[in-house]
Amino acid sequence: MLRRATPADLEAIYRIEIACFKERRFRRDHVDWILRNERAVTLVEDDGQGVAGAIMLLMEGQVCRVLSVATMPEHRRKHLGTEMMKAAEDEARRRGCAQVRLEVSTRNYGAIEFYRGLGYKTDGVLYGYYSWGEDAYSMLRSVTPAEGSPSGPHR
Ligand SMILES: CC(C)(COP(=O)(O)OP(=O)(O)OC[C@H]1O[C@@H](n2cnc3c(N)ncnc32)[C@H](O)[C@@H]1OP(=O)(O)O)[C@@H](O)C(=O)NCCC(=O)NCCS
Repeated sequence: MLRRATPADLEAIYRIEIACFKERRFRRDHVDWILRNERAVTLVEDDGQGVAGAIMLLMEGQVCRVLSVATMPEHRRKHLGTEMMKAAEDEARRRGCAQVRLEVSTRNYGAIEFYRGLGYKTDGVLYGYYSWGEDAYSMLRSVTPAEGSPSGPHR
């Protein structure tokens, strides 16, 4: 079940970062900052036994930025990642965003396939984007702001 994370999920989310990212993982204090940030939204996949995946979003005006999305290795290819991305898009629409954006390492072939399958398009290459020198693709998907949301149609 997908639910909104709270600061009490810090250790579980940090464990996901450690298990899923080699170089590009967030530090614990950065995850804590995201969990407490009013402009950020973190959702976790929790089956009652533990947290199997997490997605962290930052709302930047009309852009919803995916800071991180990860599924624990033993839970992959069960469409949890898809569910988290769809929930991110719903959250973006509710908040009046017109785009969901993300950056992905040009070497992260699995994630690139995952995003492409969800309809994300590459709109640029960010050379040396990561601190260790790897390049990233900038990818985006347009979404329609929900009716009644800050930039959506009003009745
Ligand atoms: C990328 C990631 C989040 C996908 O999570 P997931 O829960 O396995 O994704 P889903 O099961 O929803 O995958 C949906 C579809 O995406 C594609 N896909 C997912 N992972 C893929 C991979 N490694 N290689 C190729 N295609 C892949 C497939 O088409 C898949 O559908 P299928 O299983 O029916 O073939 C997960 O692999 C992960 O946590 N990776 C490490 C962290 C990371 O790189 N995150 C993204 C960068 S921020």
